[in-house]
Order: sequence, then structure tokens, then C-alpha cells
Amino acid sequence: MKVEIRNRICFISVDREEHLNAINLNVLSDLKSILAEYEKSKEIRSLILTGEGKKAFIAGADIKAMSSMSPKEAYNFSKLGNDITLLMDNYPKPIIAAINGYALGGGCEIAMACHIRLASENALFGQPESGLGLIPGFGGTQRLPRIVGLSNAYKILLSGAMIKAEEAKRIGLVTNIFKQEDLMNEAISIANKINSKSPGSSSKIIQLVNKGISLDLKDALSLESSYFEEIFKDENKDIGIKAFLNKEKPNFKD
Ligand code: CAA
Repeated sequence: MKVEIRNRICFISVDREEHLNAINLNVLSDLKSILAEYEKSKEIRSLILTGEGKKAFIAGADIKAMSSMSPKEAYNFSKLGNDITLLMDNYPKPIIAAINGYALGGGCEIAMACHIRLASENALFGQPESGLGLIPGFGGTQRLPRIVGLSNAYKILLSGAMIKAEEAKRIGLVTNIFKQEDLMNEAISIANKINSKSPGSSSKIIQLVNKGISLDLKDALSLESSYFEEIFKDENKDIGIKAFLNKEKPNFKD
């Protein structure tokens, strides 16, 4: 895994280009440690996750590694993957997936746990597990229908067919498509926009969207009101409102 910090953005790149960035236990453990390390860090305000090379974001869980797993080991592998994707869902700093090629199986699942998904024109998405006699193990059966709706999710999960970036955008799996050479700069531009906003607002928005989606509307709105009360105790509220009233740019604190 490659990790680099620049301008308060943590760049994480899965570094197994010769295996199309397929995920094994080492990759999962590294990702977990990196996320833990930067969760409360004031050094960064957002993260960009991508894959090394021009061909793949992540082409799935490592099939060779899975070939020798016992059912119990498979459970542990899936559990670790799911713990990480849950951590990502609720991560206090926005995570942007820069999907620069294949996002298959576990790769599509990791991308779905990011808060924002951007794709390059050559990106291909899919959940091919059923063609391997498997099922998704890092949240695909649960996040995909939440993101693209039941009909689209069933089609992708049951057919195992890949979809192109255009189709992924049409069904809401990604928000934008860029030329591959522009993808990272576009991701950085969005990260910079996010970084200029109040970090307390970003983390509360993420928590509310995530918690609220599995609550009924009444409870979710009640939660929003209590967070709205909380945000009024954040000094960045004073900074942001004062800057607006003085027609200045806010300089938010960490
Ligand atoms: N696991 C292990 N190795 C992989 C891999 C994977 N998921 N995907 C690609 N590779 C390896 C290939 O084995 C190959 O290695 P060798 O050169 O040593 O043979 C190398 O990466 C390059 O791949 P290809 O030669 O196959 O490249 P291609 O351009 O012909 O095809 C591809 C690209 C269509 C993505 C094809 O590699 C492919 O179908 N990969 C598997 C995709 C897949 O099924 N992913 C889901 C895995 S299951 C899962 O993810 C479960 C879960 O939910 C947790």
C-alpha cells in the first residue's frame, strides 16, 4: 500500500499492480492500520483511495489467496473486509474513491464504502463472485442495493456482468467520469473543496447520512436536530457565520 500526505490529503494507493491490485489479507490489514492512524489526525482533512497503474482500481479479492482458505478463514477474511468497510462508512473524514480501472468484487465493494466515487472513462464495475461459485464478502449484497436500487443491484449481482463507467454513472454508482489522465486532479480538486469547509460539519454530515439511512425518517430527523444543536457548540460555526457576514473567506479550525 502506498501512502502519501500532501496538502492535508492522505493519498492511499493499492500497490499490487501486477495482480490488478487484488486484495489479500496484507492489503486489508494495511488499509485498516492506515485508516486507524489517520482517523483522528489533524494532519489531514480528507483521503483519496486509488489503485496503482492504469488498468485497475481493485480487481477484487485475491482469488489465488482464497483458493486455499477454509470456510472459517473465509469468514475471518469477510469479517475483516466488512469491519473495514463499516469503518470507512463512518469515517470522520471524507474518503474519495478515484476509480481508475477495474472495480470488481471486493474492489467495487471497497469503492462503495467510500463517500464519493469518481471514475475514469475506462473504469469497469461488477460483482463477478457468482461466476466463481462465491458471493460478495465485503458488503456488496448490502451496499449495492442501497446505492443503485434493488433492480439494478440484482442484475449486477446475479449476472456477474461488468458495467461501463457511463452505466455506473447512470445508475448512481459513481458521480462523475473523467479522462484517466484527469481523474486524480479532479479528485484533488474535490478534496480541496471539502478541506476548505468545516471539518466538524463534514464528520457530522457523514455520521448523519450513515446513521439516518437505516432509521425511519422521524428518528433520523430527530437525530439531525440534535446534531444541529451540537454544531452550534462548535467554534467553526462562529467562524463560518462571521466570515459570511463580513464577506470574507472562513478559515476553519481543526
Ligand atoms: N485475484 C488474484 N489475481 C488477480 C485477480 C484477482 N481478483 N484479478 C486479476 N488477477 C491477476 C491475474 O491472475 C493475472 O496474474 P498472472 O499474470 O500471474 O496470471 C494478472 O492479475 C493480470 O490479470 P489478467 O491477465 O487476467 O488481465 P486481463 O486484462 O486479461 O483481465 C480481468 C482482467 C477481467 C479483471 C481479470 O483479471 C479478472 O476477471 N479478474 C478477476 C476478477 C474477479 O473475479 N474479481 C472478484 C474476486 S471475488 C471477490 O472479490 C470476493 C469478495 O467480494 C470479497
